[in-house]
Amino acid sequence: MLVCPKCRLPLVRHEKTYHCSARHSYDIAKKGYVNLVLGNQKISGDSKEMVDARTLFLSAGYYQVLADKLIELLKEIKPDMLIDAGCGEGYYTRQFHDCGNQIIAFDLSKPALNTAAKLDQDTIYAIASIFDMPIGDASADCVVNIFAPTPVDEINRILKKDGILIKVGPGAKHLHGLKEVLYDEVYDNEEESVELKGLTHIQRVNVTDQIHLMSNDQIKALFMMTPYYWKTSQASAARLNTLTELSTEIDFLIDLYQK
Ligand SMILES: C[S@@+](CC[C@H](N)C(=O)[O-])C[C@H]1O[C@@H](n2cnc3c(N)ncnc32)[C@H](O)[C@@H]1O
Ligand SMILES: [Zn+2]
Repeated sequence: MLVCPKCRLPLVRHEKTYHCSARHSYDIAKKGYVNLVLGNQKISGDSKEMVDARTLFLSAGYYQVLADKLIELLKEIKPDMLIDAGCGEGYYTRQFHDCGNQIIAFDLSKPALNTAAKLDQDTIYAIASIFDMPIGDASADCVVNIFAPTPVDEINRILKKDGILIKVGPGAKHLHGLKEVLYDEVYDNEEESVELKGLTHIQRVNVTDQIHLMSNDQIKALFMMTPYYWKTSQASAARLNTLTELSTEIDFLIDLYQK
């Protein structure tokens, strides 16, 4: 369960507040999430613009194949306590309902958790850095970590013995079609090393598909979700301005690790 970010004692919910026995308390926002970032720490994470772009794109179902595979894997694992580390606006989290007894999701982005908590009353959504999660040692049966930073030591700390990490990142051909529009010369994505300190890699699942985007809004939203949004020149990004259709590969790597 959640612990107090100030003193690490367990947090108990009473109506619209979480509190610990040392009388530190944290109000639940109107939208339903709790802010567990201490006053002197910075809240960053994705902006509202980035969150809205991801919502627009994901809600069209283009990445449902990934969600379906994750649900299948989680149903085999049957975690009692499932943590989503870097949940964004909860597109995947809210589909995990039947996969875990208790689900807690952390992200640093307020706009993301606004959307997530509004659409899903069954999950506990908390603003917190995933590098310092307000949850006890060895308390999670499974951690999912989808297109977000991977704080290996912290994930190791919160996983129970034999607990599972499910990490999702891009495969070599992910968004190849989008890159063909943006760049004259297109290279495959470099795959990260599969090694994670302190965890044993047990399985890799590759999910691929071809998607067809049918509007400029969706193409721009997809672009904004990617790292290319930050590193593409204005002139190259302008190539998307008049585009109304786009076909591209999607290629996800799901890596499973055991503590
Ligand atoms: C690319 S998004 C992925 C969101 C979601 N998992 C998905 O796939 O739709 C990465 C998320 O990680 C969050 N994030 C980045 N650094 C973080 C940190 N140190 N602690 C918590 N969340 C973080 C961002 O706010 C953002 O919502
Ligand atoms: Zn406390």
